[in-house]
Amino acid sequence: MEISHAEGSYIYDANNKAYLDFVAGVSACTLGHKHPKVVTALKTQIDSYLHVMVYGEYIQKPAVELTKLLAKHLPKSLEKTYLTNSGTEAIEGALKLAKRATGRSQIIAAKKAYHGNTMGSMSVMGFEERKQVFRPLVPDVSFIAFNNEADIQHITNKTAAVILETIQGGAGFIEPTNNYLQKVATRCKEVGALLILDEIQPGFGRTGKLFGFENYNCIPDILVTGKGLGGGMPIGAFTASGKLMDLLQDNPKLGHITTFGGHPVIAAAALATLKEVTESNLITQTLEKEALFRKHLVHPLITEIRGKGLMLAAMTPSADITNQVILRSQEAGLILFWLLFEPKAIRITPPLTISNQEIIKGCGIIIAILNSIETN
Ligand SMILES: Cc1ncc(COP(=O)(O)O)c(C=O)c1O
Repeated sequence: MEISHAEGSYIYDANNKAYLDFVAGVSACTLGHKHPKVVTALKTQIDSYLHVMVYGEYIQKPAVELTKLLAKHLPKSLEKTYLTNSGTEAIEGALKLAKRATGRSQIIAAKKAYHGNTMGSMSVMGFEERKQVFRPLVPDVSFIAFNNEADIQHITNKTAAVILETIQGGAGFIEPTNNYLQKVATRCKEVGALLILDEIQPGFGRTGKLFGFENYNCIPDILVTGKGLGGGMPIGAFTASGKLMDLLQDNPKLGHITTFGGHPVIAAAALATLKEVTESNLITQTLEKEALFRKHLVHPLITEIRGKGLMLAAMTPSADITNQVILRSQEAGLILFWLLFEPKAIRITPPLTISNQEIIKGCGIIIAILNSIETN
């Protein structure tokens, strides 16, 4: 499929065939494709200046306004944001900050976690099969089972940080249950470890709150975001208290360096995206749209719908059925996708701007495909 153009909830191929997009660039296109406010912000910034020098040297309004607006919408303890080029770079920054702040080396991550694909992020990925050939990776990483309360005792005074996805993505959109995140946060406080929450996928309205952690009574020490913040442009960010973040200034000097992080054009797009998400009623509509998906995706071959808001996974009885649905939906003009480590899951992460009619239309395509699948 060769892309010709994309607009709103649709991607068009070189033959001008329209595809309804239920994936949104893997949860990245929060406002759909080519949202007019994002495009205007990009054009305005491009007419002023592109890259001049790594931010911090000069005051560059888009990055300053973006980080200020993020702070306005975050709890007081998450006041300083460092902008990066991608989600995985932000994870690297967060892990480095935790080591620098605690003087400890152990990182605890979750089994089946996905945090990105550079060496540090891959070291905390809880899926050995995908990382074995890249070993040796970063040492002193241990894994606990997500939602397993007994495992929380493995967090000790040797632990620099616990890193968790607020909702596990690659594992199959697994929500924390029974105040799990709060319990991990309490244990971290007891032993002086930092809690890093990876919101690269659930962040920016997708779960019915601006940030996923707001659903689970838990505020991390370091918050990592990306994907949806950029409105279709590449970005990542890690956020912490001023006291923590300032540690990256010294010992060593310039504790995290990036040439393009905070790029003015990208920051302008992210600022327009964040304004639109927070000033419109998109976030409140997210839960209504989730309900619509759940209403219209009822079928004997859908065993469960996991996830929250517009971060949903329709589970089928087998990887084969899931494959058939995903591949055949494209022929039928609907984009679906897989999740990394859960072969029975069909990813449904549309733009937040998707309309009710588009949801009903796409669900109809999925149900028609399921109806045509013969099982014995
Ligand atoms: C939860 C999570 N963390 C980190 C990443 C890595 O982000 P990026 O691909 O921007 O490096 C992803 C990307 O899929 C993700 O879903």
